[in-house]
Amino acid sequence: MISASAPGKFVVMGEHAVVYGKPALALAIDMRFTIRMNPGKTFRVNGKPATNATMSPHMKWISEAHGNRPVSIFIDERVPTGSGLGSSAALSAAYSGAVRRLCNLPVDHESVAREAYEAEFAAQGRGSPMDTSASVNGGGIALNVPYSKEDFLWHIEKNGNSWDISRFDVPEMTFVIGNTGIKAPTGPLVEKVRKYRDESEFAYNIVEEIGQLTLDGMKCITGNDWVELGALMSYNHKLLGILGVSCPELDSLVEAAMPTSYGAKLTGSGGGGCMVALTDKPKETAAAIRAAGGTPYIVKTGVPGLEVKVREKKPANQGKKKNPRKSKRDESSE
Ligand code: PMV
Repeated sequence: MISASAPGKFVVMGEHAVVYGKPALALAIDMRFTIRMNPGKTFRVNGKPATNATMSPHMKWISEAHGNRPVSIFIDERVPTGSGLGSSAALSAAYSGAVRRLCNLPVDHESVAREAYEAEFAAQGRGSPMDTSASVNGGGIALNVPYSKEDFLWHIEKNGNSWDISRFDVPEMTFVIGNTGIKAPTGPLVEKVRKYRDESEFAYNIVEEIGQLTLDGMKCITGNDWVELGALMSYNHKLLGILGVSCPELDSLVEAAMPTSYGAKLTGSGGGGCMVALTDKPKETAAAIRAAGGTPYIVKTGVPGLEVKVREKKPANQGKKKNPRKSKRDESSE
C-alpha cells in the first residue's frame, strides 16, 4: 500500500497578484490530505466504485498522465475545501506522489510540484504554482522574492509568466485562521481579478502595489518585525477588498481579530473561505473570531511537505509470531 500526504497552506501576502508573476509568501500548515492507494482491477474511492470521470478533475488529469491504472484509494481530508487553504493543491500533490510511486517514477519534490501544478492549471484553466509548491515543499515558500542560492527550489513558467520559487525559514510566529464557512471556488475569483486588471489601469496598479508590499513583507519576516508585517497584511487585505475578492463575512472576522493581532487579512482566493491573523495572543484572537461567527484554527507552521511511504504486503508464508515489525518497510520520499 502507498500512503501519500501533503499539507494545506495559507498566504501571508501576495495572493491574486502572484498569478501575474508578482511576489507572494505562503506557509504550509498542520492540516493535511492523506491518500492511501492500492492497485486494483477497477477504480474505487473510499470503498465506492468510481470511474475516472467521477474523480476530481485534478485526480483525473494525474491518472490520465500515467495511463489510467485502476486504483483503490482512501482519502483522509483534513483541509477544509473551497476555503483558501489550498485543499485542491494538497489533493493534487498527495495523489501525484502516490500515483508516481505506484508507477515507479521519481517522487522528488520538484517532479511532484511540477506535475501537481499542471493538474491544478488544467483543472482551473488558470493560476500560479504557489499552492502546489507550498504543499509539496512544506515550511515557508516565496515566489519571485530575492533569495540566496541555497534556498532556491525550482523555476516554473506558464502562459508568459514565470516564478522563481524559494524556501525560507519559518520564524516563531503564531497565526490564527478564521473560517467564514462560505465555500468559494478559486477559478471564478481569479477570473474576476483578471478581468478587472485587464480593463482598468487602477486595478492593474493595485496588483503591482500588492507585489511591492509583499517584498516589504519578506524583509519583515527576515528581520522578525511582526508589527510592520501585521500592518502590511492588513493593508494587503484592504487592497484585495478593492479588487473585489473580500466579502462582509471576511471583513467582519478581520475586524474582530484586529484588537488582539498585529494584523489580519483574507487568505487565498477570497469571496468567503478563510482569513488569517498574525498574533501573539492566539486564544484571545480565536475567541474573537468565534464571537464574530467564524470557526477559528490556531495553526502550526513549519510543517513537512509531501511525504510518500510504501508499506509492503506480508508474504503469505510469514507467520505473525515472527517479529511482525520486520515485514513492514517504510520508506520516505525525502
Ligand atoms: O483559494 P486557494 O487556496 O485556491 O488559493 C488561491 C490563490 C490565488 O493566488 C488566488 C490563485 C493562485 O493560483 O495563485
